[in-house]
Amino acid sequence: MPQPDLNWQLQKMRKEWDARARENARHYVNTARASWTDAEFFSSGEQTVAEEILTDMTNICQGRNPQEMRVLEIGCGVGRVTLPLSHLFGEVYGVDISSEMIRQAAVTLAGRPNAHPLQNNGMDLSVLPVGIEFDFAFSTIVFQHIPRREVIESYVREVHRVLRPGALFKFQVQGYTAVSSSPDNTWLGVPFTDEEAVDMANRNGFEPRYRIGAGEQHFWLWFFKNPA
Ligand SMILES: C[S@@+](CC[C@H](N)C(=O)[O-])C[C@H]1O[C@@H](n2cnc3c(N)ncnc32)[C@H](O)[C@@H]1O
Repeated sequence: MPQPDLNWQLQKMRKEWDARARENARHYVNTARASWTDAEFFSSGEQTVAEEILTDMTNICQGRNPQEMRVLEIGCGVGRVTLPLSHLFGEVYGVDISSEMIRQAAVTLAGRPNAHPLQNNGMDLSVLPVGIEFDFAFSTIVFQHIPRREVIESYVREVHRVLRPGALFKFQVQGYTAVSSSPDNTWLGVPFTDEEAVDMANRNGFEPRYRIGAGEQHFWLWFFKNPA
């Protein structure tokens, strides 16, 4: 089947995520509730960090002091996870396709001078300062919404470009392969089998050392950048 125009698809993603952010950003970021208090919403971000980051500091820090690490988050939304990341690590950059999500993230992160929310083009990291290097990259509940494999692989390639050798890119993709994604659906993203995830790592200079949740919505991947 012919692929739709990539720019059309990226514009659709931006437009629809902007609309979701204007309507009820917190709900679309974390659909567990229709309406969130500040305390509950940001505590859900702390819970994500407790579950996915604090339990995994050996792989993430590799002996480094977290306060001396620079971290990248892809699809940061309104800063739900970026905020606790900014308390744990020395510096954090978050990118997101939606200008409205980034506007709200800037409000969330106003008191955190070490946190930098940036709107990007939805598929690469050219928005980051030239030559910047990261010690860890993270993404949760973002790639599960992206309807084009090429866009996800572009992020993997770009993270490889900005990560220091040996460092970890930990991220979640849709692993439930019966999901019916379609090119014009910006909510249900393309699923990955375990084999497809491994191939994507190998093609892009990563070792896919651990994978948990193949076949499930929350399919977590630990891609370690190959040493130089
Ligand atoms: C469900 S929200 C999750 C936000 C954040 N990761 C969290 O856990 O709080 C998904 C986010 O991914 C962003 N997003 C969707 N497609 C994207 C793309 N192609 N590039 C960057 N961000 C994207 C959306 O704008 C939205 O902020």
